[in-house]
Amino acid sequence: MLTVYFSGTGNSKFIAERFSQIMTASCYSIEEDVDFKEKITAAQTIAVCYPIYGSCVPKIMRDFVSKHRTAFAGKQLIIFCTQLMFSGDGARVFTELLAGVAVDIRYAEHFNMPNNICNFFLFPLASPNKLQRYIKKADKKLSRACRNISAGVVKKRGFNPLSRYLGLWLQRAHFDALEKKAARDVRISAECILCGKCVRICPMKNFEISDQSMVLRNQCTLCYRCVNQCPQKAITVLVHAKVTKQYQGINNKPSPIVMEHNN
Ligand SMILES: Cc1cc2nc3c(=O)[nH]c(=O)nc-3n(C[C@H](O)[C@H](O)[C@H](O)COP(=O)(O)O)c2cc1C
Repeated sequence: MLTVYFSGTGNSKFIAERFSQIMTASCYSIEEDVDFKEKITAAQTIAVCYPIYGSCVPKIMRDFVSKHRTAFAGKQLIIFCTQLMFSGDGARVFTELLAGVAVDIRYAEHFNMPNNICNFFLFPLASPNKLQRYIKKADKKLSRACRNISAGVVKKRGFNPLSRYLGLWLQRAHFDALEKKAARDVRISAECILCGKCVRICPMKNFEISDQSMVLRNQCTLCYRCVNQCPQKAITVLVHAKVTKQYQGINNKPSPIVMEHNN
């Protein structure tokens, strides 16, 4: 089994790595320099994991799938997405990227994870205690998913008509325009000292330092990594309130894996 994931700020990485550990799957971020065509072709089951942005799959993940579409043919597919609270059909939308490719969807699940939009007043960042509660709940759901998958149970979260309707009309229908705007809506404040961290960490290579100033390439995928990691708190994307606290991701070592069994 092969797991491929994209994670802007660590939540999806946590789920992907934990799942792969339990299921003894190889696990790669799509940002890694790996021959994915060869890896996908060689695997019988592919698990994908990504964060939800407005009930959509992030652009960077869409581009990845578009590049490797044909390699997915004939594979069993497990779809995991992470979200703060709601995506409707966030896992199902992934299947639209593979329209016309024969894949066997074995499992689809949504995991509620901590907020990473650190400068939006409506969604405060999780306290350390709340973070632990998120991890505990996600771990429980993941261990149930692994048990089900091993037992051949097929589950498709978000595939029913109501979830599709809510995903589309509450979020996706509006997100398309927002995503296009956001790709060009990265702002750097005067606090920027051109340390170059954003240049190194951006998965889209959206930043470049040229002639002692920051140049933006207008290809942001909205992952919020730069917003959360800029040492000067000088970067904002789409939401331009001042950044005071940043989401640090899930840094703690996962607890020992307990594979629950049906009795
Ligand atoms: C631009 C953006 C849009 C988001 N949209 C949603 C959403 O529609 N529903 C939701 O529940 N969470 C939403 N989130 C929260 C993330 O999906 C969630 O925190 C995710 O676990 C982050 O994963 P990562 O750490 O792997 O990047 C959004 C986050 C960002 C940055």
